Amino acid sequence: MLLELSNLSASYGAVRAVQGVSLAMQAGEAVTIVGANGAGKSTTLKSISGLVRPQGGAIRFEGEELVGRPAYRIAELGIAHVPEGRRVFPDLTVRENLNLGAYSKRAKGERAASMAQVFDLFPRLRERATQRAGTLSGGEQQMLAIGRGLMLRPKLIMLDEPSLGLAPIMVEAAYAGIEAIHRQGVAILLVEQNLQLALSFADRGYVLENGRVALEGPARDLLENPTIKASYLGM
Ligand SMILES: Nc1ncnc2c1ncn2[C@@H]1O[C@H](COP(=O)(O)OP(=O)(O)OP(=O)(O)O)[C@@H](O)[C@H]1O
Ligand SMILES: [Mg+2]
Repeated sequence: MLLELSNLSASYGAVRAVQGVSLAMQAGEAVTIVGANGAGKSTTLKSISGLVRPQGGAIRFEGEELVGRPAYRIAELGIAHVPEGRRVFPDLTVRENLNLGAYSKRAKGERAASMAQVFDLFPRLRERATQRAGTLSGGEQQMLAIGRGLMLRPKLIMLDEPSLGLAPIMVEAAYAGIEAIHRQGVAILLVEQNLQLALSFADRGYVLENGRVALEGPARDLLENPTIKASYLGM
């Protein structure tokens, strides 16, 4: 297993955000976590990347326990987290933002090659390499946020709602990039509120409800699941 969550729980004060989530994924797999607002999707990703300290359970990456490690150590192991709301540094240029993503020793050594790859994936970013990130469109900022994650040369990239707030054509461009990253063998853990989009992309999915896994299985089966159709797809 590449990543294995066992009985993970996480709280914010009295708010129990994640309550006993178990999830496993193989190297190179594309897995999605879907669910309504407040279901615990982002908290699950933050627990993996060390931004939230879990209360219980285990998180293993290539067999190593992540709980208790600082976020930068977890990133160095090869886990990139592209957070919700694409936090780019608005006053830095596209190129400077990308360079900040390459902060492990290994990634630093491969910075030039990684940047060329990111620019091949998202040609818009190459055209705007010296432009300040704050002046990019929302979709371009999303591409930059994903590109910055790739600069780490990750084995696993976690994407939190990459489609949020984007026009359909930008969603397509972002997903074409994500698809290409997946084809290069990088495992993808995708969080989406857009079930249709996420389940069409991923191999397998987990449906979170109130911090718990309500359903899991091959993405194709979930798309056909009557409960999901009724509750989430309005069919
Ligand atoms: N920093 C925080 N402080 C207090 N409560 C929080 C905090 N972050 C999240 N929560 C609560 O934890 C629960 C899970 O939040 P989380 O952000 O993981 O949900 P989500 O599934 O990502 O939702 P969304 O689709 O709206 O992004 C929610 O009830 C939320 O209000
Ligand atoms: Mg969220």
